[in-house]
Amino acid sequence: MKAFLSIAFLLFAGLAVSIWIGFHTKFSENSLPFDDDQKGIKEQIVIKFSHVVAENTPKGLAAQRFAKLVDQKSDGRIKVEVIPNGGLYSDQEELEALEYGDIQMIAPATTKLSTFSPKFQVLDLPYAMPTRESIIQVLNGDIGKTLLQSIEKGNMKGLTFWTNGFKQITTNDGPVKQPSDLKGQTLRIMPSPVLEKQFQGVNAKAVGLDFNETYRLLESGELNGEENTISNIYSKKFFDVQSHLTISNHGFLGYTVIMNKDFWKKLSEEQQKIINESLKETTQWNQTQSFDMNEEQLRSIQKQSGIEIYHLTDEEKRKWAEHWEPVWKEFEEEIGTELMRKMKNARKEHSDF
Ligand code: LMR
Repeated sequence: MKAFLSIAFLLFAGLAVSIWIGFHTKFSENSLPFDDDQKGIKEQIVIKFSHVVAENTPKGLAAQRFAKLVDQKSDGRIKVEVIPNGGLYSDQEELEALEYGDIQMIAPATTKLSTFSPKFQVLDLPYAMPTRESIIQVLNGDIGKTLLQSIEKGNMKGLTFWTNGFKQITTNDGPVKQPSDLKGQTLRIMPSPVLEKQFQGVNAKAVGLDFNETYRLLESGELNGEENTISNIYSKKFFDVQSHLTISNHGFLGYTVIMNKDFWKKLSEEQQKIINESLKETTQWNQTQSFDMNEEQLRSIQKQSGIEIYHLTDEEKRKWAEHWEPVWKEFEEEIGTELMRKMKNARKEHSDF
């Protein structure tokens, strides 16, 4: 009898534990992540925001500002945890991690979305947006709207665009003043068919590589050079391992701020409003501050390093733009005629290319 009671007790205890585990798992699956380290705020929602650049950059600072605004507006009920420098995921990994919901927010370079939505390539066309004003107009206008909608087909909610600045060219084999100066050089680019064609057009070899691999490969000499914004060249110290910098302003580097769509849908209307308002304020700040930051960091590079800096003249820029005109034609079909028409109009409005 004693043995029978013990077995019955064990069976009952086992059943109770299984029911509890089942309940608990089900509950966790359906609820938003919360930070249970924080006593008394069990309902706190945590948004993990991963990115690949340094903190002292337009994206790094915008992410921190956004986190602060969300904290203030939600009275600490929503916490944005920013993880910079690819500390969690590299460029490609972060896109997958977002789709799977391992992280809730990212802000990849618009270029990195071009395999997912080929329309994004419109922003990478050489000399497409030659002024600050043209960039802001394109991102905040019809073209930007079409692009954000185009990524909704995945588990992504496109929220806004942040800017970094104009791309420049650095190399160990300079100076670079005209298209033929890049002949035979191996350059790092963000993985993108448009960028690959752009450099093939000047007889260089362009290799799509992770951002955080670039310094090492420049230093070892496996790469001759790369294209990037001053902010990235400065914060990752590319100028230390390159002999020449050409201020060409030939392309744009900016970001699409994206949230995991399932996560977004589970937020209440009030929570979505807090996020939207915080993003709106951050975007306004970022879109004016980022260009100045690039200019200021160019002055720092001038002071701190021996890199030789060359500014293309307007006439030289026009020659590069003409040289790259075939790239526009080649991607017309893939990007779509309507979007191309809008981009051509924007370019005409802001330049004489
Ligand atoms: C790059 O890969 O060069 C950039 O996308 C890095 C960044 O996010 O600014």
